[in-house]
Amino acid sequence: MAEILAVASGKGGVGKSFFSANLSMSLKLAGNDILLVDADLGGANLHDFVGLKIPGLGLYEFLKDKIDIDKVITRSPADVDFIGGSSDVLGIAHITNFEKLKILNKLKSLNYKYILFDLGAGTSYNTIDFFNFAEKKIIIMNSEPTSIENSYGFLKVALYRKIELFLKKNPSMSDICKRLHSKSMQFPNINTIYKEVCAVDADVLQEIRQIVSEYKVGIVLNLIKTRKELNVFYGFESVTKKYLGINIEKLGFLPYDISVSDSIKLLKPYYLNNMKSDVSKCMDDIRSHIITKL
Ligand SMILES: Nc1ncnc2c1ncn2[C@@H]1O[C@H](COP(=O)(O)OP(=O)(O)OP(=O)(O)O)[C@@H](O)[C@H]1O
Ligand SMILES: [Mg+2]
Repeated sequence: MAEILAVASGKGGVGKSFFSANLSMSLKLAGNDILLVDADLGGANLHDFVGLKIPGLGLYEFLKDKIDIDKVITRSPADVDFIGGSSDVLGIAHITNFEKLKILNKLKSLNYKYILFDLGAGTSYNTIDFFNFAEKKIIIMNSEPTSIENSYGFLKVALYRKIELFLKKNPSMSDICKRLHSKSMQFPNINTIYKEVCAVDADVLQEIRQIVSEYKVGIVLNLIKTRKELNVFYGFESVTKKYLGINIEKLGFLPYDISVSDSIKLLKPYYLNNMKSDVSKCMDDIRSHIITKL
């Protein structure tokens, strides 16, 4: 069974697609069979980063036109197998739970070591559910306050969704469950959930604590211009620990590199064409941290 990696961000434009594409090249070159998937269902552009002019067939054709999964996989100029997105078909942005599971189960059964999902920005259920399903969860952000706040918001929604889906199985938790779904502001931090769950059933509280302690998320900082910006890691780590009870894993950072934009415009996969750059070296460090720490 392939292992699923998901790359998400609270805010758009912080480098998810750039990071996902280059991580896939780094993993491939290190000897791992990998399938890169554009799961930004509605704003797909990952193909640009792996040297393809057009996205080709994608998850839309697999789901709605019932095209065989092998036929929607393309070998990209980045030497990575690739499934493109369908930005012109807005309907794909709204897929049912059944369809999500169909995609995930099919992909997991393929003969790859890793399946890497580049997710859309924000907190739509599609994005959150794909993120929570992944064995290795990665959030990418930059050091701007908006990006940090949105990353925290994303993590909170994702964790609460995980808890909600677990509590759904237990009828005595239906009130908490409903409020987690539609009035999550009534639970400003994880302790407020613990308190209410405990008041109903102390055994369930232990199970929720277990889910939270096993919820592992890796953080990558992108577009770094000064070392000072790396302090964001420590602030983010203490806030997520204090309010959500989560231990984040600091995976590393990518510096800002002016040549990134040209490589995209010229459709030249960055990592393969800039192996000696600081960004590519940092990418390799992050890749090994993902394998060993997440
Ligand atoms: N380390 C970097 N150095 C310089 N430019 C970068 C770097 N990372 C990303 N960029 C630039 O930032 C822009 C946004 O990157 P990207 O498209 O990967 O973000 P995204 O998070 O996938 O956006 P969206 O939310 O729209 O999908 C790109 O045009 C890319 O050129
Ligand atoms: Mg993107």
